[in-house]
Amino acid sequence: MENSINPPLDTPFKQDVYNGLTAFPKHLSSKYFYDANGDKIFQAIMNLPEYYLTNSEFSIVQENKEKICVLFAENTPSFNLIELGAGDGKKTKILLAHLNNIKANFNYLPIDLSENALKQLESSLAEEFPNIHVAPKCGSYIEALETVAFNKNNKNIILFLGSNIGNMLFPQAIRFLKRINSLMHKNDILFLGCDLKKNPQLILDAYNDKSGITASFNMNILQRINTELQGNFNIENFKHWEVYDPETGTAKSYLVSLKPQQVTIAAINLQVHFKAWETIHTEISQKYDHEMIQRLLEEAGLKIVSKFGDKQGYFENYVLIKK
Ligand code: AVJ
Repeated sequence: MENSINPPLDTPFKQDVYNGLTAFPKHLSSKYFYDANGDKIFQAIMNLPEYYLTNSEFSIVQENKEKICVLFAENTPSFNLIELGAGDGKKTKILLAHLNNIKANFNYLPIDLSENALKQLESSLAEEFPNIHVAPKCGSYIEALETVAFNKNNKNIILFLGSNIGNMLFPQAIRFLKRINSLMHKNDILFLGCDLKKNPQLILDAYNDKSGITASFNMNILQRINTELQGNFNIENFKHWEVYDPETGTAKSYLVSLKPQQVTIAAINLQVHFKAWETIHTEISQKYDHEMIQRLLEEAGLKIVSKFGDKQGYFENYVLIKK
């Protein structure tokens, strides 16, 4: 009945916003952080002194590029380099440059949810690496992976960097890696970046920076609802809140309503009521220890060929194959 007067929830964004804001407790998915504005804020996050992840992984890739590229290029005349969540490609470009140096024969297939990020990556690659064949794909990881030519006759290297896997809870991460495993062939490689448990203060600070950039990143999801779905969120009435549980290794982001308030989202004809101090859960960033990584890879049926870490022990990258 109600549906006959309501506008259709004809996009995933509309559906997810509707479901998340009518649920208890309320939630929104962090995958919606990344519009053109969110991409820009995330760039700023990667340059924050508190956000150690990017520098740690950058140094790992920089210091081990020879070994990594040998593993990618061995036992095959050519390969597909497929990247899930490519973003600005800052770390990948180190590998691309080195693969060029050793005259590796490969295609680069970046996959990202953000059309905007992909466009920028494509044009910067055309300038910096005009000889590399680049075939970008916009979409969610698995969907895009399925449409990418997983050529049995060509080795496939899948890059999943930056602790992007941290946006999934443990059971979801297992399911995801199992799915990737099922698409892989014998000679294929998954190159995975994992953020590790460490001093909880460092982790909390990374997601609660002094300059408030992470807060504006989190808040951008409300901004996006305002512009894309004709919402009237007043972001001044919300506060960014971060918690980190050193036992589970889960960092969680929330938006907390500072007062009782009513918000209207016209495009989905939704009135949302917030009590004072009511929360919207927006993101998880999972941190791992070695036992958890062992279990994750064991359950997903993946085997470690090689692993690389930074000097501070903050971050690790794994070269994985099918078991
Ligand atoms: C891009 C998912 C790895 O969780 O560390 C950064 C996103 N969120 N600051 C992360 C993010 C807040 C980031 N990932």
